[in-house]
Amino acid sequence: MAKISPSILAADLTNLACEVKKVREADFLHIDVMDGMFVPNITFGVPIMEALGRLDHPPLDVHLMIEEPSKYVKDYALLGAKNLHVHVEGNYHLHRLLGEIRENGANAFVVLNPSTPVSSLEEVFSFVDGILVMTVNPGYTGQKFIPEAAAKIGALDRIRSEKGFSFVIAVDGGVSLGNAKDLVDLGADILVMGAAVFRAKDPSIVVERIREIRR
Ligand code: DX5
Ligand code: ZN
Repeated sequence: MAKISPSILAADLTNLACEVKKVREADFLHIDVMDGMFVPNITFGVPIMEALGRLDHPPLDVHLMIEEPSKYVKDYALLGAKNLHVHVEGNYHLHRLLGEIRENGANAFVVLNPSTPVSSLEEVFSFVDGILVMTVNPGYTGQKFIPEAAAKIGALDRIRSEKGFSFVIAVDGGVSLGNAKDLVDLGADILVMGAAVFRAKDPSIVVERIREIRR
């Protein structure tokens, strides 16, 4: 069964508690942390994690789009991040960073921007719990899905089965009810969805539909 991680970037932030309630059956809740340096947008960070701590919510899936993530992984892990996503791009000591995430008790996910090849992960496949394939350039919700980037899901799925790795594959950016089944068929286990969930009439139905998808 496919897993869904609704992204609160697309939610009505004036009503966060109510928005989170709508997706309480989701497998994860995706938090896009942006610093205006690594990506051209600034969103939220620790204060939102603390606020979420006072609510009932699905396990937190935290996507760090920031410079120097190693300075912050401990904070996010302590605030309850179940999965911590860090980008391959710009992380000179990726191996160390992945180790730090795991030492702090979170699952270590690496993220590939649309222009970053699968081959850049060759040396870390055995140190990751998951790989997140970006199918938009990170920065905003509601962007157009880039189909060429999704081909990497199939490539990762082949590597996983041929070499016996156990990482999960996630996809983020422009995912909708229209392309979800194709992405799961390619090998995606977790679908991150912003606009397609929170701008739907009934977000809980989108959550339900995605969780019914089987490969
Ligand atoms: C983009 C973020 C995504 C975004 C997804 O930089 O990483 O998680 O919120 O939003 P949609 O699903 O609307 O493309
Ligand atoms: Zn994200």
